[in-house]
Amino acid sequence: MKIAVTGKGGVGKTTLAAGLARAFGRRGKRVVALDVDPSPNLLLTLGAEGEVPEEKLLPLMERSSLIQERTGAPPEGYGLVFKLNPKVDDLVERFGIRCRDGVRLLVVGKIRRGGQGCFCPANALARRLVDYLSGFAEVLILDMEAGVEHLGRGTTRTAEVVLVVVEPSLKSLEAAKQIKKLGADLGITRIFSVVNKFREGGEEVVKKLEEGGTPVLAVLPHEEAVVKAELLGKSVFDLEEGKEFFSKMVELSRVLEEKAA
Ligand SMILES: Nc1ncnc2c1ncn2[C@@H]1O[C@H](COP(=O)(O)OP(=O)(O)O)[C@@H](O)[C@H]1O
Ligand SMILES: [Mg+2]
Repeated sequence: MKIAVTGKGGVGKTTLAAGLARAFGRRGKRVVALDVDPSPNLLLTLGAEGEVPEEKLLPLMERSSLIQERTGAPPEGYGLVFKLNPKVDDLVERFGIRCRDGVRLLVVGKIRRGGQGCFCPANALARRLVDYLSGFAEVLILDMEAGVEHLGRGTTRTAEVVLVVVEPSLKSLEAAKQIKKLGADLGITRIFSVVNKFREGGEEVVKKLEEGGTPVLAVLPHEEAVVKAELLGKSVFDLEEGKEFFSKMVELSRVLEEKAA
């Protein structure tokens, strides 16, 4: 199952992507998480297993020599001849970061615009990697960048599930509507939402999402444990106080499995 986690900036995409990855991992699935945000920060919320070699933190999209080696052209070699099927099957082993609950994280970084804008070597490598991992992992989770720009790309378009994270605010709701509309235009059928940081009065947002054709799969509270984890620089899913929040992620992982079937 390939799940793209989307939404406005700051709504909780990374928190949710990490929680889901660990929930599926705890349930025994082979999980790969891809950090596709231009400013990657998924590792902290996922929680590393042991020491992380500094070397592994460099996003794949910034590894010029690797891209050149695999595709036969420099990363942004527009108009050059390059391989469309570069070798990618060793990248998880080489650059993957071991995280708690058996999750493997690959820091990919910003994937450039698809279509004519960037039919370039870096993009070809990223696309091939996502395709390969769709088969390699039982659950592939993509922590996307904010906004809608990535929706047209193969990375998101070929996801079984697009999950829109929404906080109870009109701005965030607008972003969800935009994602739903664009997604539908692109033929993405399974677009669901998760309301995060729910507080009293947020019912209206839930109602509007349902009416707008973006079924709400979970309503997650504003959670003090998340705030505490942030202060400590830890993963909320490694805190005793985060247990209840984690059980909600496990529940959501089961719902998602049903929806994707
Ligand atoms: N349920 C929650 N309760 C309280 N704070 C949250 C919750 N979810 C996320 N946050 C906080 O909101 C901020 C943004 O979350 P993050 O997951 O990084 O969002 P995004 O990836 O969408 O930018 C972080 O400081 C995070 O700790
Ligand atoms: Mg994020």
